[in-house]
Amino acid sequence: MDKRYNYNKSTIYCSYTSVATNLKMNKSTIYFGIIILLSISIYFLYNSNFQKTTNDFNFGAFSINIPKNWKKIEYNGIDSYVGGITNGNDSLTFDYGWYSYDFSYEDGEKQLFATDTINGKIALLTKPKENGNGTIGIYIEKAYKENRFNLIGKNIADEDLILDIFKSIKFKDSDTTLNSKSIGFSNKITPYSGRSLFYVNCAACHHKNKNMTGPAFGGIKELEFKKWILDSTDLNEIDKTEFGISYHRKAFGKLLTENEIEKLIEYSKSE
Ligand code: HEC
Repeated sequence: MDKRYNYNKSTIYCSYTSVATNLKMNKSTIYFGIIILLSISIYFLYNSNFQKTTNDFNFGAFSINIPKNWKKIEYNGIDSYVGGITNGNDSLTFDYGWYSYDFSYEDGEKQLFATDTINGKIALLTKPKENGNGTIGIYIEKAYKENRFNLIGKNIADEDLILDIFKSIKFKDSDTTLNSKSIGFSNKITPYSGRSLFYVNCAACHHKNKNMTGPAFGGIKELEFKKWILDSTDLNEIDKTEFGISYHRKAFGKLLTENEIEKLIEYSKSE
């Protein structure tokens, strides 16, 4: 009996110590695991920060995404927000306010121009005909609230990089889903093409050739455009539908100028 008892006791003792060592092992394995996990995540955080090739630079009303080797230059502008970005070699300066430059003094012999939709804003772009020899810039007339915006550089050879920077420009109310696929440069300045106006303002409901929420844009008569958007004489006209005449007049009557409506009409007639 005694023997058995002792035997049992030692078994009990043995299993107790083995549980204890097991527990110890488990605890240190857990600590070890936590340390490994922590170092892995610190490594990744550290690494991802260092390998990230671009930085989002916030300038208040707008932000620009630029390569890591670029940094901010700041000046004090009068009546506008003036500043820039540089990599030490090339630099771009911006002007955000009322007096931004719309490229009207650029040499048409030496420059190419394009109109494009960048994050929902219609932008005029220019670049030199001869790579790296002239002005490369973007101008947005309706940037944010009443402000205009431009970002310009001179004699920069890496045009693709600069155009990528331009495409990253976002204002507080920018719609990042609205972008043209490619920028088509030509010899002529066409600041506000009907096509870009259409994409920014009307394409949510109208398609050029198909009926969607609204009727196909292509088939709409010139007079209808004027009546639906410009005519503000009778705002009490009863709408048949939610997005009828009064919706259009309210949404676009003040937003679009007569000239812009003409451009939209031209676009509706184009092939
Ligand atoms: C929120 C949706 C929406 C947006 C955005 C929109 N429309 Fe419309 N539009 C409609 C709908 C719906 C109709 C048809 C309404 C009806 O018949 O009562 C319509 C009708 C029209 C008509 C009248 C067509 C006809 O033949 O009677 C014109 C003109 C028009 N839209 C122009 C525009 C223009 C220009 C823009 C952009 C500046 C625009 N719309 C943006 C929804 C929209």
